[in-house]
Amino acid sequence: MMKAILIREFGDAGQLYIGDAKKPVVGPGQLLVKIYAAGINRADTFQRQGKYPPPAGASEILGLEMAGIVEDTGPETSRFQKGDHVFGLIPGGGYAQYAAIHEEMAMPVPENMSMTHAAAIPEAFLTAFQALRWHGNIQVEEDVLIHAGGSGVGTAAIQLAQAIGAKSIVTASAPKHEVCLKLGTKKAIDYKNEDFKTAVLEYTDQKGVDLIIDFIGGPYFKDNIDCLNRDGRLVILATLGGGNVENFDVRKMLVNRLNIIGSTLRSRSIDYQIALTHEFREFALQRFTNSNLKPVVDKIFNWEDVKDAHEYMEANKNTGKIILEVKHL
Ligand SMILES: NC(=O)c1ccc[n+]([C@@H]2O[C@H](COP(=O)([O-])OP(=O)(O)OC[C@H]3O[C@@H](n4cnc5c(N)ncnc54)[C@H](OP(=O)(O)O)[C@@H]3O)[C@@H](O)[C@H]2O)c1
Repeated sequence: MMKAILIREFGDAGQLYIGDAKKPVVGPGQLLVKIYAAGINRADTFQRQGKYPPPAGASEILGLEMAGIVEDTGPETSRFQKGDHVFGLIPGGGYAQYAAIHEEMAMPVPENMSMTHAAAIPEAFLTAFQALRWHGNIQVEEDVLIHAGGSGVGTAAIQLAQAIGAKSIVTASAPKHEVCLKLGTKKAIDYKNEDFKTAVLEYTDQKGVDLIIDFIGGPYFKDNIDCLNRDGRLVILATLGGGNVENFDVRKMLVNRLNIIGSTLRSRSIDYQIALTHEFREFALQRFTNSNLKPVVDKIFNWEDVKDAHEYMEANKNTGKIILEVKHL
C-alpha cells in the first residue's frame, strides 16, 4: 500500500484528502518511481469535479506528471536503473507516493535541477511543443500569438517559440506580463483592458500572426480567425471561456487558407506520446541543462495542502506551474 491524494466525492477542492491506495505494480517496459514532486494541471481540477474522467486503463488518482527516483524496473526495461532520477508524463496517478511510467516516457532529471522543477516540465512543455511543432508547424521568424501566456503551458510555449526562432506575443492578465516578457515574449496584451484583436493587428501591421495557440475557445474564435495571416494556423487546446460560436462566416477560412486544429494530449496513444517525448527530449534536455529553457514554478505546496493548491489555480493566481511536494515517512 501507499499514500495518495484521493477524492471523497466529485466536487470542490475540499473533497481531496490523503488516504491509502494500492501501490502500482510495474508491467513490461515500466518503471516504478518513488515520487517526490507532482505537477498540478487544470485538467486535475476538472477531473476532481467529475468532468474529465481518466482514459481507460489509467489510474483514477489525479496527477499527469511527476519527478522521482526509480525504485524498481519491470521486465523488458533497459534505459534506467534503480536509483536514477527521472521525470515524465503519466496518464494519471501523480498525486501519490509511487507511480508506474513507461520507461520510454521517462526522461532523466537534468543535472542541477530539483525534483520540484523537473515535475513542472512534462505536461506544459510537451503540450506546448506538440502545439507549436507538430500541429502548428511553426517556422523561424514566424509570429505566434499565445493566449493565457502566464499559464503553465503558456510560459512553456513562450520559451519554446523563442528557442525555435519564432516571435511570440501573448495575452495575459496584467500581473503576469513581467514574467512573460522576461521569458522572451515580444509583447504582452492585457486582454482584460484592451481588445486583443486590435492590439495583434497593430503589432503585425495588419497582417496578422502565423499561428495562434488558444485555450479560451468560443469567445475568442472569431477574433482569432481575424488575427491570422494567410496560411495561418489556429491550435485549440482548451475552452476555458466556453465552446459555442454563433454567426461565424466560414468564407474567411477559404480566403485566408486557414487551418484549425484541436488536440488533447492525454487521449493520444502511448506510441504517439512516446514519439513526442523522444522528439522533445532531443530538442529540450540539453537546453534545460544549459538553462536556455526553464520550468517556471510559481508556488510549491506540501501535499497536505493540496486543497489550497487547487484553489490557488482555480483563482487564476499562478504564473507558470504549481507543484506538490510528496511526503514519505
Ligand atoms: N489539449 C491539451 O492537450 C492540453 C494539455 C495541457 C493543458 N491543456 C489546457 O490548457 C489550459 C492551460 O493549462 P495550464 O495547466 O497551463 O493552466 P493554468 O496554469 O491554470 O493557467 C490558465 C490561465 O488561463 C487564464 N484564463 C482562465 N480562464 C480564462 C478565460 N475565461 N479567459 C481568458 N483567460 C483565462 C488565466 O490566466 P490570466 O490571469 O491571464 O487570465 C489562468 O491562470 C487548461 O485549460 C488546460 O486544461 C490542454
